[in-house]
Amino acid sequence: MRKIPIILDGDPGHDDAIAWVLAKGSPTLDILGVTAVCGNQTVEKTTYNAQRICTLIDLHVPTAKGRLRPLIAEPIIATTVHGESGLDGPALPEPDFALEDVDAVTLMARLITESKEPVTIVPTGPLTNVAALLLAYPELKSKIKQISLMGGGVQYGNWTPAAEFNILVDPEAADVVFSSGIPIIMAGLDVTEKAMIFPEDFERIRALGNHVAVIVADWLEFFYQFHRGLGYEGAPVHDAVAVAALLKPEIMEMRDLYVEVETSGDFCRGATVADFNNVLGKSPNAKVLMGIDRKAFVDLLVEAIATYGEEKA
Ligand code: RIB
Ligand code: CA
Repeated sequence: MRKIPIILDGDPGHDDAIAWVLAKGSPTLDILGVTAVCGNQTVEKTTYNAQRICTLIDLHVPTAKGRLRPLIAEPIIATTVHGESGLDGPALPEPDFALEDVDAVTLMARLITESKEPVTIVPTGPLTNVAALLLAYPELKSKIKQISLMGGGVQYGNWTPAAEFNILVDPEAADVVFSSGIPIIMAGLDVTEKAMIFPEDFERIRALGNHVAVIVADWLEFFYQFHRGLGYEGAPVHDAVAVAALLKPEIMEMRDLYVEVETSGDFCRGATVADFNNVLGKSPNAKVLMGIDRKAFVDLLVEAIATYGEEKA
């Protein structure tokens, strides 16, 4: 089976962490490297969290810290959602490996250049690092197969009425990515809020009993507490959908649409605007995920988490 070479770029973040657990536990993905971006917390904290997650799941690949702040916007962090550390909740191991001595953009460029085949980038935070890569190394676009991202939403936002957090933190970066010409799979709120993990699923995961399963169940409990306060019946594990879309596209409903990012305006900055009626006559730039088979998604997650208890070959 040919593995898909990917780079994970995120702002862990509970759902980023679960997305990375899913990716590492799936035999069809070859994780070339991990980069951290400022978003849910400062890039120092998201980088430290990235190292702790990778230590927990035995993901020892080149890992680097991303840019200090968005391309132009002032940083926005989500302490209310993910806590002061960005990954509050269960105790995690201290990092057992060092970061690369280069920044995230340089590492991404190196990994893409060295890869024998085009690389898929999986951003699950603001698109700052990815945009910086495309601006600094435009010649590498031909070696990027696709970008499977969590971000946006063509119907509504979650940080403003119009904008989803990842896009709102760095709309200019998102505009660079969506206008890059690189094929995009967009896991926006339209699908991620249907990728709900319910408390009974937490217990199904905890019952797997391995050291990762217990931590994931604790992360879900923590993440759910914030969402419960908003009336959610479970935890919407947004970021894991960007990974699941690579593993089982058949469980998704998607539409090919032309999507553009609003970078100005008083009310709609950071909105991802989809041309459903093709009034602009432009070719689609994104596969926009609109639905998901939730049970199949949970089964996929459980299957991946179960691998952490298996004896290594
Ligand atoms: O809006 C949800 C997104 O914002 C997720 O990626 C979550 O981790 C936060 O970054
Ligand atoms: Ca994230």
